[in-house]
Amino acid sequence: MSKSTTISTPGKLMLFGEHSVVYGNPCIVTAVGQRMQAKVTLSGDGTLQIDAPDVHLEEYRKEVSDLGIGDIPKGAKFVEVAVKNLFEKYSVSSGVHVSTQSQFSSKLGFGSSSASTVCVMKALSVLMHLDLPNKEIFDIAYKTVLDVQGKGSGFDIAAAVYGGTLLYQNGGEVIESLEIADIPLIVAYSGVKADTVTLVNGVAALHEKDSQKINGIFEEITQIVGKAKEALQDSDWKTSGALMNENQELLTQLEVSTPKLDAMISAARGAGAYGAKLSGAGGGDCIIALAPKDKTDEVSKAITQAGGEVLTVIVNVTGAKIVE
Ligand code: PMV
Repeated sequence: MSKSTTISTPGKLMLFGEHSVVYGNPCIVTAVGQRMQAKVTLSGDGTLQIDAPDVHLEEYRKEVSDLGIGDIPKGAKFVEVAVKNLFEKYSVSSGVHVSTQSQFSSKLGFGSSSASTVCVMKALSVLMHLDLPNKEIFDIAYKTVLDVQGKGSGFDIAAAVYGGTLLYQNGGEVIESLEIADIPLIVAYSGVKADTVTLVNGVAALHEKDSQKINGIFEEITQIVGKAKEALQDSDWKTSGALMNENQELLTQLEVSTPKLDAMISAARGAGAYGAKLSGAGGGDCIIALAPKDKTDEVSKAITQAGGEVLTVIVNVTGAKIVE
């Protein structure tokens, strides 16, 4: 019996529908080629050990009977609560050693916490012969994110589990894989790390102040997501880009864009992109742009001149998989 397995999960990029998805509305997310990897080994010593050098966590150790109790360092939270939740739900237990390795910096907003949570769930499912279907892995990983973070739509968990490009809604009630060809997407980092919970709370405050107005914005975003689903499946990048611009306008009304993001977005549009928007919570992280193939270089250059860092990102990649 193998006591060790290595699982790889993709990061994610939100294409359309951020913030609105937190209120049960649909969004479109794509899995990216920047992946998280975790080697998970069952041990007989009754402890959880975590090594996660990417988040400066080395040789963290906790008795399995104490999981979730006391102070947990930031870098260990998701993995520790993931192991605890799985052990409790399936009435199993073991010593576990988790060693994670990320192909991307956690500052980019590609969903490193969710990706590592899903790695651990999938690994334990394999090693403990639970053979959990994807939806079970999704549900318990999403519960873990809510336990740790208190908030979140779960879209990033869905991307890590299923991969591809997904229409996602309502805490995972809808997870639909979209048939999409290579998207000519340009991705650029703003240099600013966004704090998702603060931004989600900011939108919640606006919603509390004027729910009618904010619900109206969410309705418009929902319309855009519906049209974007069709346009993306038709490889109609021009329409998809125009929809990105409309989505960005509504995100600006939700007060989550920033002067830096705006500058990068308008540079992309000025250099011939079909459209551009922020991706994710806003406040920083990345922008995405859709551009005709022959304009890619010009658009990338313009974004760089506006202070962005253009990243090489492959989208629409495979979900959680066993590496060995
Ligand atoms: O935290 P990010 O950048 O992955 O994106 C958050 C997207 C939100 O819709 C704002 C929050 C969520 O959980 O869906």
